[in-house]
Amino acid sequence: MYTFDFLVIGSGLAGLSFALKAAEFGTVAVVTKREIMEANTRYAQGGISGVMDFDSDSFEKHINDTLVAGAGLCDKETVERMVKEAPRLIRELMDHGVNFTRKNGKLHLGREGGHSEHRVVHAEDATGQEIESIMVSKVRNHPNIEVFEHHFAMELLTEHHLGKKVKYLKQINCFGAYVLEKSSGKVHTMLSRVTVIAAGGAGQVYQYTTNPEIATGDGIAMAYRAKAKIRNMEFVQFHPTSLNIPESDSFLISEALRGHGAILRNSDGVAFMEQYDERKELAPRDIVARAIDDQLKKRGDKSVYLDVTFMDAEEIKTSFPSIYKTCLKYGIDITSQYIPVVPAAHYFCGGIETDIDGQTSINRLLACGETACTGVHGANRLASNSLLEALFFAEQAANKACAVFKEIEIQKDIPDWDESGTFNNNEWVLISHNREELQQVMWDYVGIVRSDLRLQRAIRRQTLLYEEVEDFYNRTRITIPLCELRNMISVAYLIIKAAMKRKKSCGLHYNIDYEMNTEKA
Ligand code: FAD
Ligand code: SIN
Repeated sequence: MYTFDFLVIGSGLAGLSFALKAAEFGTVAVVTKREIMEANTRYAQGGISGVMDFDSDSFEKHINDTLVAGAGLCDKETVERMVKEAPRLIRELMDHGVNFTRKNGKLHLGREGGHSEHRVVHAEDATGQEIESIMVSKVRNHPNIEVFEHHFAMELLTEHHLGKKVKYLKQINCFGAYVLEKSSGKVHTMLSRVTVIAAGGAGQVYQYTTNPEIATGDGIAMAYRAKAKIRNMEFVQFHPTSLNIPESDSFLISEALRGHGAILRNSDGVAFMEQYDERKELAPRDIVARAIDDQLKKRGDKSVYLDVTFMDAEEIKTSFPSIYKTCLKYGIDITSQYIPVVPAAHYFCGGIETDIDGQTSINRLLACGETACTGVHGANRLASNSLLEALFFAEQAANKACAVFKEIEIQKDIPDWDESGTFNNNEWVLISHNREELQQVMWDYVGIVRSDLRLQRAIRRQTLLYEEVEDFYNRTRITIPLCELRNMISVAYLIIKAAMKRKKSCGLHYNIDYEMNTEKA
């Protein structure tokens, strides 16, 4: 049994930012399921948005771009607060030692879809790697923070584990989590005054995703099982341009390339975006992804193509070194050849519902980063607003947690994890089969374009998978892949149910049986 003031689940930008701030006031455990660096944050390319040049840009423009992308469903006041804090939060990252790209001594500002101005601060095309490595070194060197790598948070501890029933959902408290240590297979009870879920998104629920393997929606599923409110799960963002070479594992081709002037072409070399939106390649992501999907279906093609061949080759190599080198590794010299691209699942706008302080519907439980639904993205996230959201809400949550934690008692009566009645199963191959089946169902029936019929098919298949995996789980000694699969099945359920419930097409949720609605849906 471990005891800390603050238990942080996840070591991406949200978790590490929270940990650094809270560690000034109390003891912090950061629990993370792989190596500390492994997080979506590390793979971020384009950058982090914030108004940094007040001559050409303004808070009003950034706020407006966020609200337009969000298709009427953003919480305006929260967006305003976040956008206004962005310049200070970006400077704070620089004070930590993050080295953003400069040109002529000034921060270089990139542009991406949906942005009316250049306002994306970046470290070449590997912004996440730069930010994550600096934050990791700060966290590792902090005397008040203990990092638990290869530790998997399985369940939130609540009154349920004390054998108590609560009358109203708002009476539920979170006392910490059961955490599985990979090397020993032991389940530890980690108790805390305040628990923070910063466990990221769930791209792995889909067959094709830009997300690394860790993105299995554990935080959302855990919170759902503990009866927290979950919101907006139907709004799954598909990034328009992932590299369409199977071995590349859907490597992202940053939108910053389109911000730089790259053109989308079909297999006849025709630039098609102007048929869909006057903003062409720089329309918000939902529009570009649907346009590509439409081209692929109409033409029976397997790919569309990004063209940067008409740009200065040296400039491309120095501005986008990771993309250049990765494509070259797969046999494509982007300075002379088109890049084959297709959409892939990228980001979850929905998640655990929080207020502006990261407070969930469960007492003593906060959430921040991609795992949370804070109201700033509405029906579609504006590019590069995610790293900003992680920073802003981690700070808000830390302020809230630090103000109250001393008045909260540690709950010591939680029983140890009970694995009696379970045994080692020889049928582990079923886990990978079920995982692939789920990913395929979600891709085929709950993707960029949906219909009532497809959603009904999806829920029938999801229900079957749920029953099979629950049965397996109840009889088997737990492992991380089994827990992840169980979580992915819960997240799939939440997406399908939310999609079935929304009887309008809006932002990222496009159902051919309903008109597109830009009013508040
Ligand atoms: P993450 O960074 O995903 O961290 C989650 C952490 O939780 C990980 O450490 C994970 O191991 C841990 N974890 C998960 N489950 C458990 C568990 N059960 N137990 C213990 N630990 C657990 N956004 C932008 O704003 N700008 C960009 O340029 C940009 N580019 C992107 C490029 C790519 C390829 C991808 C995939 C995303 C990109 N995004 C970008 C989105 C952005 O990176 C993420 O939304 C953001 O980094 C999320 O941060 P986070 O801290 O919430 O989660
Ligand atoms: C990208 O670089 O295209 C990703 C940016 C984002 O997801 O915000």
